Amino acid sequence: TYVVTDNCIKCKYTDCVEVCPVDCFYEGENMLVIHPDECIDCGVCEPECPADAIRPDTEPGLDKWLKINADYSEQWPNLTTKKEELPEAKEFDGVEGKFDQYFS
Ligand code: SF4
Ligand code: F3S
Repeated sequence: TYVVTDNCIKCKYTDCVEVCPVDCFYEGENMLVIHPDECIDCGVCEPECPADAIRPDTEPGLDKWLKINADYSEQWPNLTTKKEELPEAKEFDGVEGKFDQYFS
């Protein structure tokens, strides 16, 4: 599976949902997550994210994000079409450690 990581938070550009063939993105207030059982590992979303927030789970160090994607994709609603990014997206793109302050 692919996972959405920290830099999506407070940006939420949503370009990723536009290209996903199986519509497996789920939307929180400040970020999206991928449902690990629905993702078919096609990889097309990864280069589409302007914030470079999507990673394959084959990369090391993603345990925390794997769990977050798995847990919240069961709770948040499905998002299947692109919408406006968050108004503060540019300002928050690349800010370190957004999870602790802004995850929602
Ligand atoms: Fe969707 Fe493919 Fe990205 Fe998985 S890797 S979330 S199936 S676009
Ligand atoms: Fe987030 Fe990137 Fe998608 S910022 S909403 S993972 S395009």
